[in-house]
Order: sequence, then structure tokens, then C-alpha cells
Amino acid sequence: MPPDLTRTRVGIVGGGPAGLMLSHLLARAGIDSVVVELRTREEVEHTHRAGILEQDSVRLLDETGVSDRVLRDGYRHEGIDLAFGGAGHRIDFEALVGASVQLYPQTDVFIDLADARDRDGGDVRYDVNEVGVVDVTSDQPGVLFTDSAGERQEVRCDYLVGADGSRSICRDSFPESQRRQFFREYPFAWFGILCEAPPSAPELIYNHSERGFALISQRTETLQRMYFQCDPHEDVDDWSDDRIWEELQTRVGANGYTLQEGPITSRTVLPFRSFVQEPMRHGNLLLAGDAAHTVPPTGAKGLNLALADVRVLAEELERAISKKDGSLLDSYTERALDRVWKAQHFSYWMTTMLHRPAEASPFDLRRQVGELSSVVSSTAGSTYLAEAYTGWPDRD
Ligand code: PHB
Repeated sequence: MPPDLTRTRVGIVGGGPAGLMLSHLLARAGIDSVVVELRTREEVEHTHRAGILEQDSVRLLDETGVSDRVLRDGYRHEGIDLAFGGAGHRIDFEALVGASVQLYPQTDVFIDLADARDRDGGDVRYDVNEVGVVDVTSDQPGVLFTDSAGERQEVRCDYLVGADGSRSICRDSFPESQRRQFFREYPFAWFGILCEAPPSAPELIYNHSERGFALISQRTETLQRMYFQCDPHEDVDDWSDDRIWEELQTRVGANGYTLQEGPITSRTVLPFRSFVQEPMRHGNLLLAGDAAHTVPPTGAKGLNLALADVRVLAEELERAISKKDGSLLDSYTERALDRVWKAQHFSYWMTTMLHRPAEASPFDLRRQVGELSSVVSSTAGSTYLAEAYTGWPDRD
């Protein structure tokens, strides 16, 4: 039996925030698309990821009609604390750059996008498998898959977008001779928890200590998110609630903070790496989000970068489709990569400044305190951090 054939303008592999946001933006411009996603909607909804949205990400969700919850249910944060050397130091984003960020978890961004696609009649196929992309350098690239009912399906389109995350299959269809990959591994990971407790602080605390980094984040009045630097091979089953609280309290206690404790409802080890694939286009296949680049979570840039990619990509696709000229997409890689490499640097910088290096010497730890001190005591230093954290404006 030949597969069922669907034709559309843009085929999108991956139904996470990047794929759904792209489909939404294209629909607003009158361009139809089909999204295919390996996971069920429920599985994506239960993936806990980062929680900080840059100002432009909030605007994108709010102003394009995706979410009226992001402003209502999210929490506006006008700064962060950098904690080191025995005390906390606030970086005041509003005062330094007139901007803020919003604490609003990625799972909620996904739910809002999935609801918006449902509401607007978007074609999103969840729970598919055996996905493959074909003919990506032709003018009718395609994606083949088996749908949730077990039927073989084929989608043919003018442009194909790989928004299929850090284990992208789309990225692998670039011939090796036509791509470059840039990597950096880190000798640590984050141990992430969700706990039922009141917030320990009004804003995020990025905490440096001799025992390693800790991040105190929040979710709601009764649910909190926290992380601490750990070994990438750490086994979550070796960590009782008591042991986790002792570790976290010791790290933040070194800088004068005390955490409100409560039952821990989720624990995961999050690996770290930096990765970029260039270019982000091959023929009529374009990459967006984690498929093209991964950052360590320290600067909260992953989701924001993915949303920034698709904001640019939707614009470029609109232009190429309305002018019937695919060569107009040539500028996508350059526009997207400008932000990607700034974010790579920022995430790397925050990571290496705050985490205990492998086999750290006393010199290494003192040097980090010197670096942190030079950031918080200088308007130039804190302004760079504030500008990068709240997000760079789009470059045309
Ligand atoms: C989170 O709340 O999950 C979070 C916040 C800031 C980060 C990373 C994760 O840098």
C-alpha cells in the first residue's frame, strides 16, 4: 500500500515549542503547514524544562495570540541574585537595561501553543513513529512516518523544517561535507528537583560555592524548582530528600541564604553541552531550535533561542513563499547564527564562571570569585549580564 499523501507548504518535523510556534506564525501569515511529533501530547506536557522567558519571547506569545496566561500566571522578575564569597548581589535588570524576564515554565508554553494550534485548526500529528525525511534538495521535499493509528503517511511540501530537538534526524540529513559541527562537553551536570514548598526568595539565585553551583528557581506559590551541580553519572536513587536538602542548604548557606524545605516530587539529572551545526539550511531543509544548537541551561537561553529562530524563520519563509524565490532563505543562517553564538558565549560564560571546575584548585575558586566580583561591582559588567539575560533585540 502506498502511504497516504498530504501536500502542504511547510512540513515541520518536531512539535515542541519551536515547531508549534513556527506553525502558528505561518498560519497567521496564511501559510499552511503540517507538524509531526514522535511523542504524545501528554508526554511533551510532562517534560520539565527551563522556566525563564526573555522579554521578546513573552511578547511573541502575548502579541500573536498564543497565550493570555503568560502575563497573568507568570511572574515578572526584574533581576537575579548572584551569590558568592559569602553574600548575595542583586543584578537589577530594570535599572540597568530597562527590561525584565518572565518566570513561566516551558511546559506551559507548550500547552498554550498546542491549545492555540487546536483552536485554529492546525494540523499537528502527535505520537507518530518511523519518521524519515527525503528529497531535501528537491523542490518537493518530504517527510514519511507512521501515524498513531499505524498507517504509513507521506507529507510533501515546498520547505521542510527540522525542529526535532537535540536528537534531530533532520540535522543528520545534511551531507557531512556540507556541515560543520561545533561541540563542547562539560564535566558536570545539574541535579534538578521540584518540591512542594513556599518560595525561598522572590527572584532566582545563581549561587557559587566551594561545593559547586546551585540555582534556586521557582514555579508557583507552592511549588519550587531548584538545581545543584553534580556528576553527569549521578544516580538520582542515591539521593534521599534529606541528603538533597543538606547539599542545597550547605551551598546557599555559604552565602547567607536559607531554603524553605518541603517534599521533593521530582528529581532528574540534566546533562550539559554546547553544540552548534552550521549552516542551518541545506537545500529546502531548514533547522530551528535544539536541532541546530544546544546550550547549557545556566543562562536559560535554550527555549528563548528556539523561539527567536522561528520568529526569524517565519519571516524569511513568508518572504520566500510570497516572492516565489527560495534563494531569499539564504539569509536565515546568518541572521539566526548571530544570536546563537552570542547565546553560546553567554551560556558558556555563566556556566564556567559559576560551576566548580573538575579538579578545582584553590586558585580556580578564588579566581571565579574575582570574576563574579568584577561583574557585580562594575556597571559595564552587570549591564552585559542584564542585556544578555533579558535578550538581545532582533537583528534584521
Ligand atoms: C528554571 O526555572 O528551570 C531555570 C531558570 C533559570 C535557568 C535555568 C533553569 O538558568
